[in-house]
Amino acid sequence: MVQSFSQKDKRTHYCGTLTAANIGERVAVTGWCQKQRDLGSLIFIDLRDRTGIVQLAFDENTDKAIFDEAFSVRAEFVLAAQGVVRSRGEGAVNKNIPTGEIEIAVDGFKILSVAQTPPFAIVEDSDVKSELRLFHRYLDLRRPDMQRNIMARAQITQIARNYFADCGFIDIETPILVKPTPEGARDYLVPSRVHPGKFYALPQSPQLYKQLLMYSGFDRYIQIARCFRDEDLRADRQPEFTQIDEEISFADENDIIAINEGFLKTVFEKFFGKDLPTPFPRMTWKEAMERYGSDKPDTRFGMELCDLSDLVKDCGFAVFSGAVADGGSVRAINVEGGAKLSRKEIDSLTEFVKSYGAKGVAWYKNAADAVSSSFAKFLTEDEMKAILDRVGNKTGDLLLVIAGKNTMVFDALGALRCEMARRMDMIDKSKFNFLWVVEFPLLEYSEEDGRFYAKHHPFTMPMEEDLQYLDSDPARVRARAYDIVLNGTELGGGSIRIHTTEMQNRMFKALGIPEDEAQEKFGFLLEAFKYGVPPHGGLAFGLDRVVALLLGLEDIREVIAFPKMQNASEIMSACPAKTDEKALNELSIKVTAEEDEA
Ligand code: AMO
Repeated sequence: MVQSFSQKDKRTHYCGTLTAANIGERVAVTGWCQKQRDLGSLIFIDLRDRTGIVQLAFDENTDKAIFDEAFSVRAEFVLAAQGVVRSRGEGAVNKNIPTGEIEIAVDGFKILSVAQTPPFAIVEDSDVKSELRLFHRYLDLRRPDMQRNIMARAQITQIARNYFADCGFIDIETPILVKPTPEGARDYLVPSRVHPGKFYALPQSPQLYKQLLMYSGFDRYIQIARCFRDEDLRADRQPEFTQIDEEISFADENDIIAINEGFLKTVFEKFFGKDLPTPFPRMTWKEAMERYGSDKPDTRFGMELCDLSDLVKDCGFAVFSGAVADGGSVRAINVEGGAKLSRKEIDSLTEFVKSYGAKGVAWYKNAADAVSSSFAKFLTEDEMKAILDRVGNKTGDLLLVIAGKNTMVFDALGALRCEMARRMDMIDKSKFNFLWVVEFPLLEYSEEDGRFYAKHHPFTMPMEEDLQYLDSDPARVRARAYDIVLNGTELGGGSIRIHTTEMQNRMFKALGIPEDEAQEKFGFLLEAFKYGVPPHGGLAFGLDRVVALLLGLEDIREVIAFPKMQNASEIMSACPAKTDEKALNELSIKVTAEEDEA
């Protein structure tokens, strides 16, 4: 029978904290029934709260009314129990749980609410489909691994708040309703009722506001900031996510890098009780691309890219020589021990690289019993030998080659390198390889639009020594931008910002943004430049990624209490949803889309 909660039911201890040291004490606990075992004259209930499980014991000495109540308890009933902690006695000890030596001899007991059988068991690592988990997220969040993840997130967030406060950073909130931004990802838009036909955007990041706070003299800003981007979702991307967002005045990249290495060192010390050696290695963007085919290289394993262009530029295989002649390149990775892959497995790599724009992958399988290759027959013996020597191919290895435009070759081969490392089990999961990638290109050319875009954002300062090329050869200009990378994931990024009108105008010009358009979009920033702007720069970590990676998880949804699905919906509350005609009329909005079937 369900009873109401009263003062005497209030917990004195969390379930998971009771140990042999509490034997003889009267305690009160509250929580959920993990499991009830009825052994006739004995009943055991495993009671669970967010700290763990404790065993409640009911036997012949228990009051009959209480015993009968315990008899009716099922999984996930909410309970309050009081009693004396006693030893379980020889043979009954459960070494698998911290409270396994003790139990509570219950003398006070209430069922506070009853529960239906849940759609999945509330246990660790349960193999439940993600839709079902998200539909009943409140149940999923009861599972001990999810509770640990969410609490770890809270702890890391708190470490961040304390660390940055100790370093003199000021926590300042910035608006959530902001002006739509033309650059970057697609905005989430919010229609204005008061200004029909006009829209707010949800911030993709607090970038411009944190810069303005520097202009206002706050000098060191921090915010645990929610950001919104309407982009294609992946395991490390959510439409709304959280940044540890920072900005500092009178500082250069070395100051910002040092402060953030200090932050990660503090997290390691406080969260893992481990030292994290600093400074982290730094690598230029160019080196990262050439060695790893990625601006976020996973350095836990080798298998670096090898440029074969000079060796094959005149060879008889048109796929190779043609790529070089067209200004592209031919690059390879040598997969140690890869010759054990079957022909079918090698063929499946073609499918893999196709999604990165490659037409295929050329291969050379150096198996002990027989050598086979998709391209060796087109090359001379000398050419083949030069290639195999350069990549260090030996018996048992598999050589994989991709030819074409540089950006595609880097993309496809960089991804293939990681895929092969996964398939060959080459990754040491216990490693935390932090790395700064620096000297990014300032601009990125879009073939599709025929114009340059800012690689980081339009407020990033070019490197002084490259300024001379900004008008004549913009692709050559490097930025004072840096990314922090961990095990092949971009954890965060930032830059030193432009702080003069002259430089900002040059940048808009390089981006092909005409003066009137710059005024319309960023007029407030240009106006602010007139009144004394300090040199400044900053960085933002993706908090979700930081927490997930430190916990060894690949999907950031595991560390977000209520994440969205791949198609940006939230199935538990059925969001997004239609709204009524009246609300739309007030917003001067007419919906023309067909009904969403998804
Ligand atoms: P950037 O766009 O690189 O920089 O974002 C910084 C970090 O935020 C995380 N991140 C995401 N995490 C989850 N889901 C997403 N959709 C998502 N998008 C980004 C990443 C990324 O490294 N204002 C600049 C920072 C600055 O210059 O100070 C910015 O937002 O971990």
